[in-house]
Amino acid sequence: MVRSSLKNSDRPVRTWQLALPLGESDATPLFARIARALSDDIRRGRLKPGQRLPGTRTLAESLAVHRNTVVAAFAELEAEGWVETRPARGAFVSGALPEAPPRRFARAVGLAARPGYDLGPARGSCEAPLPPGTLSMAGGIPDVRLAPAAELGRALRRALVRDRTRVLSYGHELGHPRLRAAIAEMLASTRGLAVGADDVLVTRGSQMALYLIAQALFEPGDVVGVEELGYRPAWEAFRARGVELAPLGVGASGLDIESLSALCARRRVRAVYVTPHHQYPTLATMAAPRRLALLELARRHRFAVIEDDYDHEFHYEGRPVLPLASADAAGVVITVGTLSKIFAPGLRVGWVVAPPPVVATLAGLRAHLDGQGDLPLEAALAELMEDGVVQRHARRARRIYQARRDYLVAALERRLSDQLAFQVPSGGMALWARVRGVNADAWSEAALARGLSVRSARHFALGGRSRPYLRLGYASLNERELAEAVRRLWVARPTRQR
Ligand SMILES: Cc1ncc(COP(=O)(O)O)c(C=O)c1O
Repeated sequence: MVRSSLKNSDRPVRTWQLALPLGESDATPLFARIARALSDDIRRGRLKPGQRLPGTRTLAESLAVHRNTVVAAFAELEAEGWVETRPARGAFVSGALPEAPPRRFARAVGLAARPGYDLGPARGSCEAPLPPGTLSMAGGIPDVRLAPAAELGRALRRALVRDRTRVLSYGHELGHPRLRAAIAEMLASTRGLAVGADDVLVTRGSQMALYLIAQALFEPGDVVGVEELGYRPAWEAFRARGVELAPLGVGASGLDIESLSALCARRRVRAVYVTPHHQYPTLATMAAPRRLALLELARRHRFAVIEDDYDHEFHYEGRPVLPLASADAAGVVITVGTLSKIFAPGLRVGWVVAPPPVVATLAGLRAHLDGQGDLPLEAALAELMEDGVVQRHARRARRIYQARRDYLVAALERRLSDQLAFQVPSGGMALWARVRGVNADAWSEAALARGLSVRSARHFALGGRSRPYLRLGYASLNERELAEAVRRLWVARPTRQR
């Protein structure tokens, strides 16, 4: 730090120290750093409007720099309006500046703790990251260690090299045509949906799809039916549009049609959001009569059915149940899907399939938000789907997750059969276990303190009501990790009901 003692001839002599770290390596030119140091001191109120600055020669000597450097600094300050030069008298701090009260400033101004403007009511929140070393059974997430990352890397490289002009340019809001065609082909062959590439809008994960649907379909105050135990991120996307969420019961056969029917009798329902394949979080598969009843109610009351088909591939016993959309003759279903489970959630690739005017509206809205998707990634994924890499990976992952499900079931039965009771689910990535004799919320909290993230029913409840259930995700943990997770769960179990 170089300090200089300068005299102010227009005011009583005082010592002014220019805090200028000339020795620090800084790409900024020296004259600009001197100018910045002076303007900082003017801002801080250490140099007052009208105050005389030292002569360029004096300042150059005290800073041990060439005089021209100081002349350039003063010229810069004058151009910015901090300083004015008066013929034959020298340079003065501009008299037009407001008097700044002397304040303590950090050298570089950091972010203020609060904005200096009104933000309005709080919208959205982010979850705190888990402490390092925590095993997570919280979500129903896949094991990304299994994902064909090397193949994706090679395909991405090929897309960038061979298809550069297309994937590095602006593209179509609907998504890369090859990926749309590959998704349409997959939906037709595995899910019984007779769709083509133009019926598919590629989104960044199902989350964007749900958000766009809410923007396109809903008006503030609309009533949207949701499973009372359900998928919070979808609710948040809907709430962002100002809708009223109406809770609908869920049971062992999925959505409670009686409660939906009663709601339709009372209110005008705009849409119903459902997870029929493996209900989130209870894993119940919606029974066929309920599916048909839901479609019929939608047709009669003219509401949209938003079907979140998030884990179609992961069904272990028998064949996966076809989505509601495959039986939709009335055009009421909007299907949302994702590669988050089949491949990895970090890719952020999902899709919406809906009647053409809906797809067009969603694509238009998407253009406001994101312009288009990630074309290099979409081209690479299209290639991996055309070559069957994604499908092979999904088949392998399904076998592994089924084995993990069985391992977890056996481990829980050995150690925690007094406290936990569950149906072995025929698919999905988690167990939904009834808790006996102890408080599920207390157990979840104690488990986190022991390094295991596991969620109790309250986390999934629309009204936040406690219920004696835990959701235990197993797909992302290998057998050694599952054994450790069960040990932590056992150690953390509260001893009696609270
Ligand atoms: C019900 C449900 N829908 C969708 C998703 C996937 O969301 P995204 O595609 O935004 O990653 C998940 C993942 O946990 C989910 O549980």
